[in-house]
Amino acid sequence: MGCFLREWKLEDAGELATLLDNQKIQVNLRDGLPYPYRKKDAEEFILHSLLTNRKFSLAIVSEHMVIGSIGVFRQENIHFRTAEIGYYIGEAYWGKGLGTEALKQMCQLVFETTDIVRIFAEPFSDNIASCRILEKAGFQLEGTLRKSAYKKGLFKDQQMYSFIKE
Ligand SMILES: CC(C)(COP(=O)(O)OP(=O)(O)OC[C@H]1O[C@@H](n2cnc3c(N)ncnc32)[C@H](O)[C@@H]1OP(=O)(O)O)[C@@H](O)C(=O)NCCC(=O)NCCS
Repeated sequence: MGCFLREWKLEDAGELATLLDNQKIQVNLRDGLPYPYRKKDAEEFILHSLLTNRKFSLAIVSEHMVIGSIGVFRQENIHFRTAEIGYYIGEAYWGKGLGTEALKQMCQLVFETTDIVRIFAEPFSDNIASCRILEKAGFQLEGTLRKSAYKKGLFKDQQMYSFIKE
């Protein structure tokens, strides 16, 4: 069971809403997502992605189903050759190697088609699965950002991982 990345289509909204209407996913993401997460929320996200980051905010597809989302976001000013990566896989598809595969494909796409030389991610330190897939995809741990996030009333540490184009 492999996966590939493609641009979003508005008709993906139903499948996307099913994936993201899940607190086990949202608890590991930044705040701001609605819960429950409905089809209209997914449509808004897809339209925004197509308008602002069409080539690098992509659907993860496996066996004709949208099973996740992955996006790379170029930073500003002196950081313009750096990008942040964010991703999630629907709970029904966890543990099949798909998150790792999607990460590898996205990093290859970014390094082959842009001038970005650094891709980073900042998973919460207790997000073992995310830390693990970053390592499997070739990212290196640079350190711990102590109490760098505040989520659901708690301070959280984050792990700074980066992948450098040599
Ligand atoms: C992080 C996420 C994308 C991983 O996707 P996935 O498709 O399940 O990942 P993979 O199957 O490629 O790999 C998961 C790895 O984590 C390991 N893992 C998962 N949970 C674990 C745990 N609690 N303890 C130890 N290892 C764990 C798996 O064993 C596997 O490693 P292995 O291949 O060495 O055995 C998915 O869990 C997810 O979407 N989580 C919620 C959203 C999120 O955290 N996004 C990232 C924010 S930074």
